[in-house]
Amino acid sequence: MAKKLYIKTYGCQMNVYDSARMADVLAPLGYVSVDDAAVADLVILNTCHIREKAAEKVFSELGRLRRIKDRRRDRPMTLAVAGCVAQAEGAEIVRRVPYVDMVFGPQTYHRLPELVARAERARGTVLDTDFPAESKFDHLPEVAAANGGAAFLTVQEGCDKFCSFCVVPYTRGAEHSRPVAAVLAEARRLAETGAREITLLGQNVNAYHGEVRGGGEYGLGRLIAAVAEIDGVKRIRYTTSYPADMDTALISAHRDVPELMPFLHLPAQSGSDRVLRAMNRRHTAEDYRRLVDKLRAARADIALSSDFIVGFPGETAADFDATLALVADVGFAQAYTFKYSRRPGTPAAEMEGQVAEAEKEDRLAALRDLLDAQQRTFNTGAVGQTVSVLLERRGRHAGQLVGRSPYMQAVHVEAPESLFGAIAAVRVEAAHANSLAGVLVSAAAAVEGAVA
Ligand code: 5AD
Ligand code: SF4
Repeated sequence: MAKKLYIKTYGCQMNVYDSARMADVLAPLGYVSVDDAAVADLVILNTCHIREKAAEKVFSELGRLRRIKDRRRDRPMTLAVAGCVAQAEGAEIVRRVPYVDMVFGPQTYHRLPELVARAERARGTVLDTDFPAESKFDHLPEVAAANGGAAFLTVQEGCDKFCSFCVVPYTRGAEHSRPVAAVLAEARRLAETGAREITLLGQNVNAYHGEVRGGGEYGLGRLIAAVAEIDGVKRIRYTTSYPADMDTALISAHRDVPELMPFLHLPAQSGSDRVLRAMNRRHTAEDYRRLVDKLRAARADIALSSDFIVGFPGETAADFDATLALVADVGFAQAYTFKYSRRPGTPAAEMEGQVAEAEKEDRLAALRDLLDAQQRTFNTGAVGQTVSVLLERRGRHAGQLVGRSPYMQAVHVEAPESLFGAIAAVRVEAAHANSLAGVLVSAAAAVEGAVA
């Protein structure tokens, strides 16, 4: 009988990708994915350690799962913690929640069959938080299939930047790029199985430097051009980028590769040079502004998204004003804002001048107001325009599909089921805070990309 697998994913898109790959590794062992932990034989929490809140959620979810596990009479439930909390706090999890059967970090997913077998034999918790010498990518099975019209593809993992607030260099390890041939083979497979949009993923994706068979390396710009050549690939995105790694070839790709969407997530973190230095970011606010100018010169309709942290240790009111000024100057289509969260083991956790929680709240609210207003302006600007929409979800009511514009805006539209997975031309009629609504302009032109 098939065994049931339930994976709950927290955090970033790389975790979404990793969860899919874990399901691929486990499929040959007879595991079939289900969407309810209560019926699963194996439950994996794929966790996020980036901020304290994200990490805490894991322990409360484990408490809930424990009750299900304890009540289970007919067959055992294996409980596993994967991802970045597992990597950072493996031993602590084993101590705090000994009823967990497996704890393993992001670089060991190819060892899952062996880990599962060990967990079935073991009494205590099986722990694997190595950074193995072998790359997991060389040992993971081929991607089974795209899960809809929009697919993720990890091309680079890990980070060597060591921003002083960030756990990623510790949880994901050193920067590693997959070879070009492996990326292209996976992209082809995704396109053949219905992906129309591919998002190239990496913690530091624009530091990509993949080896080419026969010698040499490709940067991300050349990789994007190669992915664009693949039949069926209509849209390409990449995330997340580090400003200092935006090279000329990548900026030019925004001009030269029509499949590359005119939307870029480019975390700035702060607009104050003093804070950026303390964060160990290798760019100034002025560098960021100049970079945006270059991107806009390459592609006039490009829109930007970003990440900002407020209340970094030592951030003064004047520093925060510099962040507001950067946001006002650049103009973002959307952005994520975070209160600085002290992460044990990172340099910033030990810095003087930790900012009071109430002050962080005030700054967050002020920054959010500005960014929300920019987002509203951006969305309102789409009204009356015809945009291409990749229809990737079913809407709340029958006959409605939901998709994404080139700018990642959610777009609701009445459309036949046959267009699911296709790219359709939609005229936008209304803008809401977080989405757009529109009508189909041309269904016929869009059917080409539909997934049967
Ligand atoms: N506190 C708050 N925000 C953080 N981020 C990373 N580490 C922290 C932290 N310790 C934010 C950064 C990053 C995004 C993924 O999460 O803005 O770009
Ligand atoms: Fe973290 Fe900085 Fe690396 Fe991004 S670039 S993953 S913020 S250390």
